[in-house]
Amino acid sequence: MQNDVIFSAKNINKFFGHGKKRVCAVNDVSFDIKDGEIVSIVGGSGCGKSVLAKIMLGLYAPESGEFLYKGKGITNTSDHWNEVQSVFQDPFGCFNQFFSIRTQLKDAFGILKNKPSKQEIEQRVDEALLAVNVKPSDIEGKYPFELSGGQMQRMLLARIFALKPKVLIADEPTSMVDACVRANILDYLMKLKAELGMTIIFVTHDIGLAYYVSDRIFIMHEAQIVEAGKPEDVTQHPKSEHTLRLLEDIPDINREWIKK
Ligand SMILES: Nc1ncnc2c1ncn2[C@@H]1O[C@H](COP(=O)(O)OP(=O)(O)OP(=O)(O)O)[C@@H](O)[C@H]1O
Ligand SMILES: [Mg+2]
Repeated sequence: MQNDVIFSAKNINKFFGHGKKRVCAVNDVSFDIKDGEIVSIVGGSGCGKSVLAKIMLGLYAPESGEFLYKGKGITNTSDHWNEVQSVFQDPFGCFNQFFSIRTQLKDAFGILKNKPSKQEIEQRVDEALLAVNVKPSDIEGKYPFELSGGQMQRMLLARIFALKPKVLIADEPTSMVDACVRANILDYLMKLKAELGMTIIFVTHDIGLAYYVSDRIFIMHEAQIVEAGKPEDVTQHPKSEHTLRLLEDIPDINREWIKK
């Protein structure tokens, strides 16, 4: 399976709205992503990163061009979500306020075709919580509104650690956590890749973070991929002026990673 193509996009387009209000969110984008790769999609606000991520999740279909997962179009989203899962920017939007966190982590297994036994689910939830540095007893009986934004983001990641999908689409998963926790989470993502061979699509504004985690970086600007390559090449020898601008915007803490 290693190095098989997982996602293949050929000249895909996605528009929103009509007439004068028509916006092109993804414009003639083509790429291949291989099994086991970590690919970061980097670009400024509104350049189309999340729309592209949602196409990969099967939430939007491109209006033209061809988009394939493992060589086939995405026709059945529940089959797709059995293998491809996501962590999005707003962790509160992904949890129901009226059910305890632990109940929701356990219920998440309902998405899988081969549901593990109750006992295995309890065990996998505990392991997943520990993987994101949360003691299971700390969230026992707690509801989403009782946790901070950063803690909730870790709960989203715990759900991924528990379910172990083949492909993870992570859209700014660390935006609400502090720098130390962020480095931990990124290390855990890489651990998941190493242990499970998970393919990860990591969406971020920050080319410094992307450098740290990725096998390849796609730079997006105004709905197009303007540069793609290995992190070393993209950061040391950028070809596009938009890449240069993103390099100037790296927070100092992440700049350190690039020098290493
Ligand atoms: N459901 C929608 N309806 C209409 N326009 C949309 C919709 N979703 C996205 N857009 C538009 O598509 C463009 C790309 O949006 P997208 O959410 O992909 O940006 P982004 O790169 O993820 O930005 P950010 O970094 O701020 O999250 C924007 O112009 C946005 O307004
Ligand atoms: Mg976005």
